[in-house]
Amino acid sequence: ESVSVIIPAAGQGKRMGASVPKPFLSIKDKPVLWYTLTRFLTNPLVSEIILVVSPAIREDAETLAASLKSTIPVKIREGGKERQDSVWQGIQAATPGNSVLAVHDAVRPFFAPSVLHDGMQLLKKFHGAAAGIPVVHTIKKTEGQEITGTVPRDSLVQIHTPQLFHASILKTVYEKAYSDHFYGTDECMLAERYGYKLAVIPDTPDNIKITTPFDLQMAEMLVKKYES
Ligand code: C5P
Repeated sequence: ESVSVIIPAAGQGKRMGASVPKPFLSIKDKPVLWYTLTRFLTNPLVSEIILVVSPAIREDAETLAASLKSTIPVKIREGGKERQDSVWQGIQAATPGNSVLAVHDAVRPFFAPSVLHDGMQLLKKFHGAAAGIPVVHTIKKTEGQEITGTVPRDSLVQIHTPQLFHASILKTVYEKAYSDHFYGTDECMLAERYGYKLAVIPDTPDNIKITTPFDLQMAEMLVKKYES
């Protein structure tokens, strides 16, 4: 079976407060996107990558993809207003014969290499599967400053990407969401809405989403960890 990996990288990244778009921020001397692409291009399950970018980084993304000299094709498409619109562009660009679609945020370069394999196993029993880790914090509900309750932690999981789906299911879910004008923050949120069965793929806390300047410092540490 072959996996088409869709990488949304078309965000504006306002929370970072940097002038460089997040996928091109440097960790040591390479862009965030270099690490993300390299991790997929060295995975034998991957048959193509669809990288979804903003017009502002299109040229840099093309140059970076070409520099990786991989035999696995990297298609580049332009994204949309919301993450969901960008992923939809990627879904439409995937080679129709590929049975599995994996969606992965460009700004998560450190997902566990085992998640694609483990996710594929889960697709034998589930419609979709998403990388995640148990929640270690105590989570409270609030109204303004006031604490109004505690959410039992043992039933909570912090969900990451990659998120894998049978290709036809992800396509159907997106079409339904568009016809309902429903927007979610990840693929699972759409699939849940339409009653599909989804599973968690065990991931590690290393799979950070590079969102703030603190995350970039963490990323420097993680690159050192994987180098040694
Ligand atoms: O918006 P959020 O921070 O959740 O972004 C997660 C990923 O989605 C990032 O890799 C970002 O570049 C991408 N994104 C996108 N198109 C948008 C918004 C976000 O591809 N319109």
